[in-house]
Order: sequence, then C-alpha cells, then structure tokens
Amino acid sequence: MILLDGKKTSNDLKVEIAESVKQLKAQGKKTPHLAAILVGTDGASMTYVSSKVKACHLVGFNSTLIELPSETTEATLLHEIEKLNNNNDIDGFIVQLPLPKHINEQKVLNAVDPDKDVDGFHPTNVGRMALDMPCFLPATPFGILELLERYHVKTSGKHVVVIGRSHIVGRPMSILMSQKRKAGDATVTITHSRTKNLKEFTLQADIIVAALGIPEFLTGDMVKDGVTIIDVGITRVEDATKKSGYRLAGDVHFESVSKKASFITPVPGGVGPMTIAMLMKNTLLACERKENNFVI
Ligand code: GUN
Repeated sequence: MILLDGKKTSNDLKVEIAESVKQLKAQGKKTPHLAAILVGTDGASMTYVSSKVKACHLVGFNSTLIELPSETTEATLLHEIEKLNNNNDIDGFIVQLPLPKHINEQKVLNAVDPDKDVDGFHPTNVGRMALDMPCFLPATPFGILELLERYHVKTSGKHVVVIGRSHIVGRPMSILMSQKRKAGDATVTITHSRTKNLKEFTLQADIIVAALGIPEFLTGDMVKDGVTIIDVGITRVEDATKKSGYRLAGDVHFESVSKKASFITPVPGGVGPMTIAMLMKNTLLACERKENNFVI
C-alpha cells in the first residue's frame, strides 16, 4: 500500500510556484495577488481561508482578505465582488463557501469575472471544463488529478466510481476522469444518496473517489483488492481522547480499506493540502494569463 502524500506533494508544488514567482519578480513582472472574501464566522471556513492566506505568503503572492459580518446583504457582497472584478491589481479571488442562508450562492458565483475565478465555480469555467477548453479547474478535483499523475496511478481504461455529486467535487471529478487526459480516459460511474446497492458499484471499482461527507462511510468489505482510494471527506468527529475534543475523519474507514488498497490518501494530509496548492497554481495562471492579454 502506497500513501498518496498530499502534504509532501503540495509542498513540492508550492516550492515550484515560489520559484515561478521569483522568476516573474526578477523579470520585473507583476506579483500574483489573490483576494478572498469571507462572510461570517464559520469555524471551518475561517480555518480554510487563513490557510489560503498563509499559503500566499509562503509562495510569494500578495493577498487580501475581506472579512464581512454574517448579516451582510447580498447587494453588499455583490458590490464587493464588483470592486474586485474592477481592481486591476487583483489577479484572482474567491468567495469562501458556504454563504449565509439569506444569500443566493449561485447569483454570487455568477458575479465573479470568469478571468479571475480561480475557484473555477463560474458557469463559464464549468462549461469550458466540460468542453475540454482552457479554464480554471476547481481546486479539489485539480489537486486529485495532480496527485494521481505524480504517483503514476494508471487511470486509462480503469473503472472510477465517484461517490457524491456536489458541484465542487463529485460532478467535476466525474467529468474530468472521463476525458482524454493524463489522469483520465477512465470509465466513470457517478453514485449518490439515491443510488441503490452502492456496494455493487464500489466492489467493481479500480479507483474510488469518496466525496459524500459521511465520516468513515466506505469500509473494507465494500472494496476490492488493489483499489486506489481518494478520500475527499474531512469531518470533525467528537473524540474525548484528544485535547481539542475532536479528530478529523475522512469518508473512508482507513484501517479496513487501507489493508486492501494499492494507493490511498490519508486524512488529514491527503486531498486537503492539495486543494490549497492548486488554488495557488490557478492564481499564478490567472496572473500569467493577464500578462499575456488572456491568449492562454
Ligand atoms: N468551501 C469548501 N471548499 C471550497 C472551495 O474550494 N472554495 C471555496 N470558495 N469555498 C469552499
């Protein structure tokens, strides 16, 4: 069994990105600048956003964090987005999700300039992705592709079973793995909460992407020998033996599944750190595209 080490791989990526930034600076070019909008005080979102800001500093990007109170109106948020769209120094920005219930998430995502949409959530980028055109890939699926490639996991002709159909992970993952690309060319089955006899599908899978958000859902009896496991889940579960009172659990029961797997991502330290590294990669790409008048 080989661990797909997202911590190490994301560090390698950040070193590569930092090197590109050094070269940009040496050539007198613009320093990439990422902005993040955080609405409210959700604990997990605050942690994610601060990790993103920290990563910017690590690779040499400029960063701007816009923190808005949870009672912010949709109109105010749309106004902040418009300001970032029109700010020439900002290369890319994200609106951290989830948003408070009174704000229409899709309306907000639609307002982001697709050329600055480094999360890859705007319908223009989703459509471009589906059509195999140059675009910003959503960071989590992008990170999974990168991990599969760097560990030379064979995907061509393999059966990939995706569990979960979210717009952020499951849906794009199913599209990307079916496309003609290095980590791709696979036969894909997408499963979800209404799938009957899920185990019948997972037992046939060469590669499983678990992205349903239920801790330790996928167990050893549900997978075949030699399977590759990508665990996207990360949930806080109570654990009295920990000082914090909780531990982080993936969607995969690591102990039983890892006994059968040929490759598996740990939680934490698997997909999570890759997501942040790919956001940095998209921001670098956004900056370079702008320098090249959007011809790449
Ligand atoms: N919330 C959970 N994942 C993400 C992500 O990749 N981007 C943003 N903006 N919000 C998220």
